[in-house]
Amino acid sequence: MGNSTVTVPEFDLLGADDPLEYLLEIGARAPLCWVPKLHAYLVCGYDNVVTALRNAGLRSANATQGFERLSAAEQEELRPLRMSIEMWMGHTTPEGHHRFQHLLKRYFTPSTVNGLRPRIRQLTGELLDAAADGRMEVVADLAYPLPANIIAEMFGMPTDERDRLRVWSRHIGAVFQNADADTLRRSQASVLEMQDYLRGIVADRRARPRDDLISMFVAAERDGLVDEDEIVANCVLLLFAGHETTANLISHGLNLLLNNPDQLALLRSDPGLTPSAVEEMLRRDGPVITVVREAVEPVTVAGYDIPPGQHVFLAVYSANHDPAVFPDPLRFDITRRNNRHLAFGMGAYYCLGAALARVESDECFRLLLRRFPDLRPAADQPPALVRVSMRDRLEALPVEL
Ligand code: HEM
Repeated sequence: MGNSTVTVPEFDLLGADDPLEYLLEIGARAPLCWVPKLHAYLVCGYDNVVTALRNAGLRSANATQGFERLSAAEQEELRPLRMSIEMWMGHTTPEGHHRFQHLLKRYFTPSTVNGLRPRIRQLTGELLDAAADGRMEVVADLAYPLPANIIAEMFGMPTDERDRLRVWSRHIGAVFQNADADTLRRSQASVLEMQDYLRGIVADRRARPRDDLISMFVAAERDGLVDEDEIVANCVLLLFAGHETTANLISHGLNLLLNNPDQLALLRSDPGLTPSAVEEMLRRDGPVITVVREAVEPVTVAGYDIPPGQHVFLAVYSANHDPAVFPDPLRFDITRRNNRHLAFGMGAYYCLGAALARVESDECFRLLLRRFPDLRPAADQPPALVRVSMRDRLEALPVEL
């Protein structure tokens, strides 16, 4: 039993000038608090977040709790978006979740993904060739196209459609950002367009199966394991999840190296440190700040009793900066040992694409640093940042080569 009589402290996390800095401050003051604008609890600290990630009474919340703040008419208008999200593997029933994990896991194991290394290396080389005129904008020229093309190839998507994927994904990402009705309308338009497009590919694979993920889903459909709506909803999820986060890891990771020249020099002198550098990028500036859960039964979190139906944000970023687990947590140290970060989550919803994201970033940083020994920030153009929910995301990272 936890303490249900003590008042939970409140913090206006989203109103802070620098929410990430404030998040660490909150963590130092209270293991659990209430964030009114999220209408949810927030859990900080490594041990608390790990315990909560392992708590079966906390289920992945379907990112749609923000819809409840909208008017009845807006909720009705956005029903197709909500229905699609509710079919995503992490957000559906536990039975549906297992079914999709079972179908997909062999495509994302470390050994399967290692088999993609030569193709990832080749594509990275092509992207670097195209940018080799002395300058590059890392976000648009490398960080996005690399993971986007790899996941699109896994799906057998035609090359000419891949630019649309970035626009769709950008709009879909808003679902996770406590967005307003207009932004969600744009997300819905992108989800519906993407689903229509995918239905065409599904029909094609029914007639002409190939060796790709959609053909695998079509075979599972024939065996009665999934239906078409589930297939297209989860393809949207994978295409979106498969590149947006990894793109952020590559651009923010390179930015960390550029801002820490000693670590950049160390990595250049010993490329064998690349896997450990990628882990440290994930810890220090990983793409995911919080994951969201809903209590499906009475649970005790960080010593407090939480009733069923309440939403709980687990601050992965705070856990990854807990000084009890990561000494000198703000320091970016590519040789950090025992780096047990939670950037990919943990437990039942652990990231399906973790091995793929690791291999893509590993290949990307190795080749980038080898090809361009003088790579440095562009003297005349600073990086462009945009505030997305709790963090500043890199929109452009111009470099000289
Ligand atoms: C740096 C890159 C990435 C990061 C930081 C990341 C992070 C995460 C996190 C934190 C979760 C857990 C969410 C939760 O607990 O509620 C997750 C789940 C998931 N991720 Fe990733 N991800 C990355 C790349 C990818 C890639 C490349 C793919 C796909 C190909 C992918 C597909 C998924 C899926 C399908 C889930 C849901 C898994 C489940 O519910 O069983 N992710 N990811």
